[in-house]
Amino acid sequence: MKNALFALAIASLALPAVASLELAQKNACTACHAVDKKLVGPAYKDVAAKYKGNAKAEAMLVEKVKKGGVGTWGQVPMPANASLKDEDAKTLVKWILAIK
Ligand code: HEC
Repeated sequence: MKNALFALAIASLALPAVASLELAQKNACTACHAVDKKLVGPAYKDVAAKYKGNAKAEAMLVEKVKKGGVGTWGQVPMPANASLKDEDAKTLVKWILAIK
């Protein structure tokens, strides 16, 4: 019984992370981004580290993910993700910023 509860607790901790990775895959973010290494775009781990403690980062990044942009990480632009829903953009940015 104790073990079952423990497993349940772990599962509920792990689930949001998995769901967000799936959301990133569904929206093709993972074509250019990985959690822990640079691909076309910066590693999400590095993005989280860059904006750690920055209260304005979430709103700024939600906008940037939707509209695209260039110049923060180099000369390669991120194209606009125009079809991304607001709530999905928020979920993704929250997830990215929480990566350690
Ligand atoms: C075609 C490749 C590509 C795709 C697809 C892509 N990105 Fe990016 N992304 C980039 C590049 C390149 C940068 C660096 C832009 C810069 O230097 O300003 C970036 C930067 C970022 C940043 C950091 C922005 C900053 O100002 O620090 C976040 C957050 C991000 N992407 C999230 C996402 C999410 C979420 C998706 C999916 C909805 C996504 N990206 C899809 C290429 C991509």
